[in-house]
Amino acid sequence: MRAVTIEDGELRWLERADPVPGDTELLVTVHAAGLNGADLVQVKGFYPAPPGAPPDIPGMELAGEVVAVGRQVTKHAVGDRVMGLVGGGAQATIAVVDESHALPVPATLSWPEAGGFCEVFCTAFDALWNQGAIAMGDRVLVTGAAGGVGTAGVQLAAATGAVVVASVRDPARRAVVAALGADEVVDPTDVAAHGPYDLVLELVGAAGFADAVGALATGGRIVVIGVGSGAAVELDLYELMRRRAVVRGSTLRARTRAEKATVISGVGAHVLPALAAGRVRVPVSATMPMADAPAAYRAFADGHKLGKIVLVA
Ligand SMILES: NC(=O)c1ccc[n+]([C@@H]2O[C@H](COP(=O)([O-])OP(=O)(O)OC[C@H]3O[C@@H](n4cnc5c(N)ncnc54)[C@H](OP(=O)(O)O)[C@@H]3O)[C@@H](O)[C@H]2O)c1
Repeated sequence: MRAVTIEDGELRWLERADPVPGDTELLVTVHAAGLNGADLVQVKGFYPAPPGAPPDIPGMELAGEVVAVGRQVTKHAVGDRVMGLVGGGAQATIAVVDESHALPVPATLSWPEAGGFCEVFCTAFDALWNQGAIAMGDRVLVTGAAGGVGTAGVQLAAATGAVVVASVRDPARRAVVAALGADEVVDPTDVAAHGPYDLVLELVGAAGFADAVGALATGGRIVVIGVGSGAAVELDLYELMRRRAVVRGSTLRARTRAEKATVISGVGAHVLPALAAGRVRVPVSATMPMADAPAAYRAFADGHKLGKIVLVA
């Protein structure tokens, strides 16, 4: 197979040995694999793949066709179109994915949409439901709402019956985020004026954190998922006390096989039908060949995109 490979902090497109599926794994010819912020951090040497994943082939989500299955696989078969979550190794022409971390690709989805679905929709679903206990009628703030997780979070929160406030710093992308279901799309500096929030999906980190805490409703929850603008904040604990507020954080990649399977199964039950019916969608801002990974990573780092950048084989 060919694989995007990290060598001395650089990305190369190299020939590598094909992976061999374990008992519960699917061997997949990859058609599309989404890029994520963690891939960029991994190239810089700061976010190693978890044990069991290839340490030098990035990529945490993929879509493709099953070409072989392990001995204990029961849910998928050769020929199936699947999309899945992996600890690493997605950005290659062939990859393995545990069958409990894979979902069928709806017939309505293109390969790039499927390849950019799992990481951001699983993250947004888990943050809103499992971590944030979203409920119908909640006023929900999604920061960094034009990105991959943000566009997923806006759509899922809106589909649940929440009132969604999306913060987007680029005015050119506010209308399209509104079209995804946000009730109000605001500049990050205006967040405080649009509360009080029952739930904040914090995808940016330190930059607007104090404003988010100050705009929490009584019993409000902040779920911290991304810290691209910084991870260190000064926090007035009294502001949390008087709101009976909860701040929690979460990562997906380092979870156990069973924990990830629980998230995938929730997404399969609750999000996949809406995706198949076109009620939620995966905004793909650009597709680029895997062989051009360095350019794709640069485009991701430059920002100003809506949703996903996806590598295609
Ligand atoms: N905890 C987890 O398990 C998990 C899982 C997935 C992702 N993440 C993290 O969550 C974050 C969001 O992921 P993503 O895939 O949605 O990334 P993304 O596609 O790059 O989106 C990030 C969004 O945040 C905006 N943004 C960045 N810095 C900002 C700032 N200082 N002020 C206001 N807006 C800012 C960006 O705007 P511009 O386009 O204008 O730059 C972009 O719209 C990333 O940090 C990622 O690493 C965590």
